[in-house]
Amino acid sequence: MKKEIITKHKELVFSGVQPSSGQVHLGNYLGAMRRFVTLSAKHETIICLVDLHALTSVQDPDKLSENTLSLAAAYLAIGLNPEQVTIFRQSDVIEVCELCWYLSCFFPLGLLERAHAFKDVKAQNANVNSGVMFYPVLMAADVLLYRGTKVPVGADQKQHVEMMRDVAIRVNNQCGEIFPLPEPLIEESTGVIVGLDGRKMSKRYNNYIGLFEDAKSARKKIMSIVTDSKSVEDKKDPETCNVFKLYKLLATDQEVNALAERYRAGGMGYGHAKEELFQVYERTFGPMREKYNDWMSKPEELKVILAAGAKKARAVAHHTMALLRGKLGLGEIL
Ligand code: TYM
Repeated sequence: MKKEIITKHKELVFSGVQPSSGQVHLGNYLGAMRRFVTLSAKHETIICLVDLHALTSVQDPDKLSENTLSLAAAYLAIGLNPEQVTIFRQSDVIEVCELCWYLSCFFPLGLLERAHAFKDVKAQNANVNSGVMFYPVLMAADVLLYRGTKVPVGADQKQHVEMMRDVAIRVNNQCGEIFPLPEPLIEESTGVIVGLDGRKMSKRYNNYIGLFEDAKSARKKIMSIVTDSKSVEDKKDPETCNVFKLYKLLATDQEVNALAERYRAGGMGYGHAKEELFQVYERTFGPMREKYNDWMSKPEELKVILAAGAKKARAVAHHTMALLRGKLGLGEIL
């Protein structure tokens, strides 16, 4: 019975990235954004620029709006087509804040206190703002407002998607099957992309390679990737090497096998592997960088695309909120 009702919900891919810096990085792209493009070819897709989430860390208004346009340019440069995909800015559909409140009334506080991301930030900053704690509630509101069913993200977001499933079940138990249960789409091979120092690539650790860095700076960063101290002659294990881990995700199968063999054979230094990585980085992101720079020179066009996306997203949001308000015993919107 339950299954029948749930399958009534149509499949919808929903995901987002925070405009929390001027640069998306390889971790964002390989962990999540690359799949926004492939999934959008098969499913209805909504991709958000989650500026309200970014507000937990960026409180300079000029920076936030610049970062938002830069992220819009990035979405288009990687190949998202606004004719096929709804691309919009989170704060343009403010019902998300209304839903965030309703969900927070169903969200056990203990769940928020135990969230890994919150605990990490709190461990580093005693003056953490409460937006950081409510981050998972707002994220649940994002997906549930549009009734997303598939959420492509990196492994660090698994717990957040589990939390949104949990709250969707709680609301459905009380209000009927309003929300589909979102499922995280996390890939084994790209769930955690490593950064220059071998830790997870992150803006916070400053160990990232930007997607659209100029060639010189990208090369410099790639040359600084941490490796072990084996000499040129030594045989090496590609699978444990940070350079190879990135190479594998950008090169063709043939190239990957050829480089792996050179690692295993010995006689190749890490400098050579880094040069190979730089070549595939440039091949992949050089053309995207041009598109990105081109979009960045047309901010007015970017704003038009975001406004059109918001209009489409708002229509879905109104529908969900109208359903839910009645079920909660709240008044109609007059
Ligand atoms: P953000 O901007 O922090 O990250 C955007 C996406 O990049 C992924 N990611 C990584 N994946 C693999 N390896 C890495 N080193 C790496 N670094 C980042 C993140 O997992 C994420 O998928 N909370 C979300 C934004 C959000 C959202 C949503 C996502 C807000 N509402 C609703 C999906 C649905 C985030 O982490 O943004």
